[in-house]
Amino acid sequence: MSKRRFLITGGSQGIGAAVVEAACADGHEVIFTGRNEELIAEVSDKTGAFGLRADVGVPDDNARTVEVCSERLGGVDVLVNNAGYGYFATIGELDVEKMKAQFDTNVFGLVDITNRVVLGMKERGEGDIVNIASTSGMKGHSHGTAYSASKWAVRGITQCWQAELRPHGIRALCICPSEVQTNWGGRTGRSDPNKLFASDIADAILAALSANRRALWPEFAVFATNPWQQS
Ligand SMILES: NC(=O)c1ccc[n+]([C@@H]2O[C@H](COP(=O)([O-])OP(=O)(O)OC[C@H]3O[C@@H](n4cnc5c(N)ncnc54)[C@H](OP(=O)(O)O)[C@@H]3O)[C@@H](O)[C@H]2O)c1
Repeated sequence: MSKRRFLITGGSQGIGAAVVEAACADGHEVIFTGRNEELIAEVSDKTGAFGLRADVGVPDDNARTVEVCSERLGGVDVLVNNAGYGYFATIGELDVEKMKAQFDTNVFGLVDITNRVVLGMKERGEGDIVNIASTSGMKGHSHGTAYSASKWAVRGITQCWQAELRPHGIRALCICPSEVQTNWGGRTGRSDPNKLFASDIADAILAALSANRRALWPEFAVFATNPWQQS
């Protein structure tokens, strides 16, 4: 893949940070967002990417993010919509306000920042949008009403963008990771060699982006081969 300009939301840790690292290692120019300043600084120091504090659920933050991308990079060729979190509750006890807040990040924030970035891609007649959904958005599960719904929404949105954007030379693709051993949901310290690491998802994203522009991988899931193996 030739050198491209990446914007990665939620790059301060986990899957997003792994994508920042992989893209920088491949020589791309990278800007990423996050909310935790300490973690943002760590990823910047490690990779050389430019990190900024911005909440994807806040439209003014997204406007500023896109402005910074214009000033520093002159535009965005690859948008990775990664920022997201999980709110889990059983139906009967679900807090709808918490579900709405989660949609502000996982769904409305993703749409808002893409709204702003896609205009430049359309002008150039080229671009890639990578949406991170989840296998929870392919099959519902207990306690998953809010989270699964947000990730089903991301899959549906991606299909709409594919229909709209292919004629503009813009690829929209959706990746559905199974369980990845990040600090997601405060679950720190996982390093089972048989389960997925954030770098596996980064590798999958870079592979999809490296396909000849004539080829679009609309959606794919990434599972661990044998997560039940005792190591
Ligand atoms: N881990 C899994 O098993 C798994 C599986 C399938 C899909 N996913 C999806 O993959 C994505 C990344 O998950 P992860 O496991 O890497 O989680 P993580 O380790 O918790 O990292 C999440 C990242 O998103 C950022 N973020 C969260 N809310 C944000 C907001 N409102 N604005 C800007 N940044 C925000 C966080 O930034 P700060 O920490 O700086 O706030 C952090 O950099 C999410 O969309 C998640 O739903 C994860």
